[in-house]
Amino acid sequence: MSLLKDLSQRFGDAFEAAGIDRSAGLVVPSQRPELAQYQCNGALAAAKRAGRNPRDLAQAVLDGLTDRGIYASLDIAGPGFINITVTDEYLAGNAQAMEEDARCGIGAPDPKLKVIVDYGGPNMSKSMHVGHLRASIIGESLKRLFRVAGHEVDGDIHMGDWGMPIGQLIIELERHQPDLPYFDADFTGQYPEDSPVTLDDLSEMYPVVVDRCKNEPEEAERARQATFDLQNGRPGYLALWRHYHDVSVAEQKKDFAALGVEFDLWRGESTVHDRLAPLVDRLTEDGLAVESDGAIVVQVEKDSDKTEMPPLLLTRSDGSYLYSTTDLATLDQRVEEGYDLVLYVVDARQGLHFEQVFRAARLAGIAPEPVGMEHTAFGTVNGPDGTPFKTREGGVLRLADLMKIVTDAARARLDEAEIAQDYPDEERDRIARQVGLGALKFGDLSNHRTSNYIFDLDRFTSFEGKTGPYLQYGAVRIKSILRRAGEAGLTPGPIVAPTVDQERGLILRLLLLPEVIERAVDVRAPNVLTEYAYEVATDFNRFYEACHILREEDPIRQASWLSLVDLTLRVLTLLLDTLGIEVPERM
Ligand code: ARG
Repeated sequence: MSLLKDLSQRFGDAFEAAGIDRSAGLVVPSQRPELAQYQCNGALAAAKRAGRNPRDLAQAVLDGLTDRGIYASLDIAGPGFINITVTDEYLAGNAQAMEEDARCGIGAPDPKLKVIVDYGGPNMSKSMHVGHLRASIIGESLKRLFRVAGHEVDGDIHMGDWGMPIGQLIIELERHQPDLPYFDADFTGQYPEDSPVTLDDLSEMYPVVVDRCKNEPEEAERARQATFDLQNGRPGYLALWRHYHDVSVAEQKKDFAALGVEFDLWRGESTVHDRLAPLVDRLTEDGLAVESDGAIVVQVEKDSDKTEMPPLLLTRSDGSYLYSTTDLATLDQRVEEGYDLVLYVVDARQGLHFEQVFRAARLAGIAPEPVGMEHTAFGTVNGPDGTPFKTREGGVLRLADLMKIVTDAARARLDEAEIAQDYPDEERDRIARQVGLGALKFGDLSNHRTSNYIFDLDRFTSFEGKTGPYLQYGAVRIKSILRRAGEAGLTPGPIVAPTVDQERGLILRLLLLPEVIERAVDVRAPNVLTEYAYEVATDFNRFYEACHILREEDPIRQASWLSLVDLTLRVLTLLLDTLGIEVPERM
């Protein structure tokens, strides 16, 4: 059990003994560390509710505490806060328990949930760009976070592979190569095994056809028809779709691997294609889905709505399905598969879409009340001028190019700081890649996900301040401390009561890990972790400056410090790993 939970339990017992609900016993870190380490504020509200005097209640709680030996001081402050400082022995015991625990003191969640994180969401036939980057970085981190917290989690890429863009790409290819068998409705032979296009071809074709459809209604109509035919199983189109799909996935697997993003499920909109018609039928029979101008819609507005809430579209007037249909059907499948919580890590601009889908899902009983559905929204990445990030030429930046930019910037920083200069080229390249990616991810994740942020490569790649490279370097340095200690024949031993302020400060910080993880999960926000990781690294530096481990004469103290170093490394590695950031072996 974590230290805070242990204290909360003890205070809960004392409140209960004083005739108050035990939840009043919640103990939290002190807001004024110069006065005490922890505080319990429950007496104020509880006394008010019970019509009692808060200071008297607080006193009764203190009188009711058992095991007084673990407290160094307890006092009542102001109107009835309880300030708590524990003994160094109690701190050491908790730190030792954390060091011995494989999960660093992170308990089992209650209840344990089966969670699916829907993130990345690239669209088939288009190379990924920075727009998908945030979804990938934040989604990957949330997936890892829920896993670290002990939940059962799957990450699903939910590729955009079943809508109008595919129809558009079908008619565009037909314009270039009308003789391909895919376009011949009467063709009965075998379709070619090799794709007639590469992903680059598709990426070039796409904007062209989008533009044409915008300006020429007949073209838009043809694309719509092609989409409809594809969705209704026209064999040539399905065969072509398969090629588009395969070339896209092959490229995306490479992109995501380079980013360190791993999906458990490579599903997409097309996955639920067989569910679409039955779902629409079911909702129509239930009277929930109704016809409107030839389309089929679900009314999702509520009396309490302050802004307009348009109906959710299930089919267009020609019977073709939409993004909303596939999302609703996907939710149906996910609930059937037993997921309790679905997180959609998607751009904030899709807020209305998700609100409509969630409401329809509740109305239709697709996702009954206990199932959680959340749009875990995020803001945009802006360039230095404050508008969405682009290349110098004004185009959208491709992910692969972005990776090169960050790696080059990291390499320049390493050279400047004379880090890793005499390592083999291959290792230096790997470190530059790791540091570049670390800079990028930390730079992104350290902003609250809902805020827009400015892509500031200079700041992100700095080895000073709240950056990925600072933390990576910190962790590498700790590894080297442990290595040197090992070479000197020193081994870690039991953690004993701290005597130095900086040592105590580090222990207090490390012991917060379980609650930090809980809080990050609660608010679905990795920036809680970036903040804490920075504090851990900074507290470690203070400790290391104050406590000269290798020169320490008392072997018991020295061994204890080494365990503390080891624990710090484990905590930092766990945090960085949860952020999706790798730590090089040496630097
Ligand atoms: N493909 C979509 C896009 O690029 C994102 C998909 C998000 N996930 C979802 N279930 N709608 O905008």
